[in-house]
Amino acid sequence: MSPCMNNTVKNSVRHLICKVYDQFASNKDKVSVLSLPGTSWEFEKYVLNNYGFRNLFGSQLEMDLVCFERDHATYEYNVEERYDVLDNHNVSYINEHVEQAMEVYTQQENVFSWFDFCGQPSFFDLDYHRATGKQVQVFTFTTNWRRRENVPAAILEDAKKVSPAQAILNYFKPLMDERGYHLLFAIEYVGVKSPMLCFCITNDHDVLNHNYKVENMNAKKQASVVTQKTIIPKTNKQGIYEALKSGINESVIMVTYGINIHQLAAHKAWLTMWGQW
Ligand SMILES: C[S@@+](CC[C@H](N)C(=O)[O-])C[C@H]1O[C@@H](n2cnc3c(N)ncnc32)[C@H](O)[C@@H]1O
Repeated sequence: MSPCMNNTVKNSVRHLICKVYDQFASNKDKVSVLSLPGTSWEFEKYVLNNYGFRNLFGSQLEMDLVCFERDHATYEYNVEERYDVLDNHNVSYINEHVEQAMEVYTQQENVFSWFDFCGQPSFFDLDYHRATGKQVQVFTFTTNWRRRENVPAAILEDAKKVSPAQAILNYFKPLMDERGYHLLFAIEYVGVKSPMLCFCITNDHDVLNHNYKVENMNAKKQASVVTQKTIIPKTNKQGIYEALKSGINESVIMVTYGINIHQLAAHKAWLTMWGQW
């Protein structure tokens, strides 16, 4: 099970994004979807189920789902393991940085994108789509920036006066006004490791005017990670040490060995203690 799936807040935010996608797709017959699945694939499975439902029971939908992964080990892992999603004819999986490639791959005018960076944000021009289309763009990233050189100077400056989340929204505002986007929601929560911001902008009035029944934006949004007591066999321990030493993505290690972030930290501490990492 993916570590992300045990996080109640993240699951709830993802659920909201699925509801927004439902509304977005409901009155269209052609859509492109862009996403960063990591090792979760929950949102992507939802999008595919929506597509199946539409074509079996509803009005025909043409949909292409384009997923990006910049980390090679995570990409290879998914190619091996996630054929349930990747074998679909309308799914592409690209081992590239999304900001370098997304324009190339979207086929339709109507685009729904969720850039779930989780960690450090990437900032790029919103105008990658064809001007006439309806768009929904969702961004998730930490507001605790370790590498400040990637964050636009205007945001860093503004963040001296307002919260980092507000500074990000302020930064996007003129671009949104110019392109006819409106803010649908902005949710701040505490992720497993750091403060997170998830916000959604759109130029689709049907999406904006729908009632998602988000009544309690101030609900306690502290990530609660369900800890499962897992006894790791000795042979697996060796595998985890080897995986850590060879630099495999930590999410992949957690999924592969079914361990949580605390157990991973214990393995890292062991290697550090013995000077092997
Ligand atoms: C947080 S995970 C996605 C989780 C998933 N969306 C979910 O619902 O839980 C983010 C993934 O995107 C990848 N990633 C981060 N920034 C990226 C970028 N700029 N281009 C492509 N992949 C990126 C990371 O390597 C990671 O595997």
